[in-house]
Amino acid sequence: MYRTLDSGVILPASRAERPVVIAIDGPAASGKSSTSKWVAERLGVHHADSGALYRAATASRLRAPGALGTSESWTEQSVLEAARAVSFVPGKTSFEVRINDAPADEELRGAGVTANVSLVARMPGVRAWVNERIRECARGSSIVVDGRDMGTAVFPDAALKIFLIADPWERARRRLVQRLERSPSEDEIAVETDDIVKRDAKDATQTQQASDAILIDTTYLTQAEQVDRIVALARAVGG
Ligand code: DC
Repeated sequence: MYRTLDSGVILPASRAERPVVIAIDGPAASGKSSTSKWVAERLGVHHADSGALYRAATASRLRAPGALGTSESWTEQSVLEAARAVSFVPGKTSFEVRINDAPADEELRGAGVTANVSLVARMPGVRAWVNERIRECARGSSIVVDGRDMGTAVFPDAALKIFLIADPWERARRRLVQRLERSPSEDEIAVETDDIVKRDAKDATQTQQASDAILIDTTYLTQAEQVDRIVALARAVGG
């Protein structure tokens, strides 16, 4: 039994019907999450953002007693304890993070979480906790997942692996346009670029490009163009 895809690719039925994982990794502000969300919508599958889980564990730990001390005093056990209040539930198109059963999106993007999340993401027990949540999302259905190590540590057999990169200056510019809803000045972009380069260094160990990932440099691409490319690649692998 064979199935012919829209792209003309012919797949054995067993492969065509198997749930497909599309893993999209890359550094901070490379547009992974918004691109992944859009790709998932186009393919009619769910999207799961692993970074949101690291942020949720951090946000929940910030709510706990003793959170106001330095984050160096946070133990892995205290973060995992706080993470028990986090759930990851399927929404209309994406898995949504909840803390104590309430949405926490704004809190996840807050300065306190951003300042502490790299430390939390380096804890092996927290990485195992996130990885298990993400694998659960993929059980039995096709999915688009994004993060830093989806194509290496979490889904080494993913049908399609993408690694998105973009020039730090351009990543800084995009992030400011999103945050300020206007064109940023060169000085503002320079300050933000510095921040992005520092975050890249903090997350360097966790950010892994799989040897079989397709590298897409989005510096000169619009978001629609990068989504089109990934959707075409996904269709070719049966997504
Ligand atoms: O993509 P983001 O900024 O929301 O990620 C938040 C933090 O989590 C950042 O420090 C990188 C880390 N992270 C990670 O280590 N591994 C992942 N798979 C996803 C995110």
